[in-house]
Amino acid sequence: MAKTGKAVEFDRYGDVHELHFVDQPRPEPADDEVVVEVIAAGLNHIENYIRQGDFDDRLPLAFPARQGSCFAGIVRKRGSAVRDIAIGSEVIGHAVGGGAHATWIAVPATAVVKKPDGVSWEVAGGLYLAGATAYDIVRSLHLGPDDVVVITAAAGGVGHIECQLAMAAGATVIGTCSPRNHDYLRSIGVTPITYGDGLEQRIRDAAHRPVTAFIDNFGGDNPDLSETLGVSPSRFRSSEDRLDVEIRFITADREDGEPALILKELASMIDRHRLRVLISGFYPFDYIAEAFDDLALKHSRGKVVVGMQPVETGARSGWYLSEKARSIVEALP
Ligand SMILES: NC(=O)c1ccc[n+]([C@@H]2O[C@H](COP(=O)([O-])OP(=O)(O)OC[C@H]3O[C@@H](n4cnc5c(N)ncnc54)[C@H](OP(=O)(O)O)[C@@H]3O)[C@@H](O)[C@H]2O)c1
Repeated sequence: MAKTGKAVEFDRYGDVHELHFVDQPRPEPADDEVVVEVIAAGLNHIENYIRQGDFDDRLPLAFPARQGSCFAGIVRKRGSAVRDIAIGSEVIGHAVGGGAHATWIAVPATAVVKKPDGVSWEVAGGLYLAGATAYDIVRSLHLGPDDVVVITAAAGGVGHIECQLAMAAGATVIGTCSPRNHDYLRSIGVTPITYGDGLEQRIRDAAHRPVTAFIDNFGGDNPDLSETLGVSPSRFRSSEDRLDVEIRFITADREDGEPALILKELASMIDRHRLRVLISGFYPFDYIAEAFDDLALKHSRGKVVVGMQPVETGARSGWYLSEKARSIVEALP
């Protein structure tokens, strides 16, 4: 077990080139905390935006700053008040205050849940922010069997989870994507529609009945489209709504019990094969800048994740991986 490690930091607002590694000794936990050796951690667009200073009014940073909202790992130390999590427990967590892109993270014990054996490290590492966002948005719509819901960017990190949660609620789901994702969406029961000119008519043709809800992950002209399709404003979730949800979950503090409840539910669904979270790119930690570059292309199918430790993974054996991630993984010794 490593005693020292490294963390990603940046000293000013800027793009991915501002990221650099600093040495990180293993932290000591406060009384109510656990120290987790991070095995895998997810990447999210909002981390790019925050680093670039796009939200410096809502989420101002103190420098040097760290990032990373989602992680999975092994509990290596615990504070004196922590009784219910054993040393050596495999956990999924949310990084209260950020900093999951590191070898170690100290978090309140309430911010982690047990990782079921049926949830792989890379899926667990990328689960929190995309999962909680998708869960919260789909739950807020109270979908049921009478619903037809359109979901944009349906194969993306958040969209593919929303699709499956909406279907689990009984709704019929129409998802926008490029043709390369049609087979994937069909395979999970979603009707795929190519985005771009003529989208409204393609949705009408696919729906056969009125569209009752609309989740717009991607933004653009979709508010108008939702209205044109006759969706009630109360059942439209814009990309700005989604941003608010992401900020709410990124800033969830140690008193907030909801993130752990949602993580537990999602992990259980994955373990019971009710939800399948895809990994679009799985990068060694040293390649975190390349991983962010991959994410910024906005053509992920599922989540982009970095692995701090060598992880036994299907990544070499025919999973879908972006070309960049595949070239890096295949070049590993
Ligand atoms: N985090 C935030 O602050 C925030 C908030 C709201 C919205 N968003 C945006 O929402 C999008 C999805 O988020 P995510 O986290 O799921 O990202 P992601 O994992 O990077 O997903 C990107 C998805 O966007 C799809 N896409 C690309 N161009 C599109 C277009 N013109 N119209 C519709 N879909 C398109 C891609 O589908 P194909 O590969 O099939 O083309 C891909 O599946 C991202 O573009 C993100 O920037 C982010």
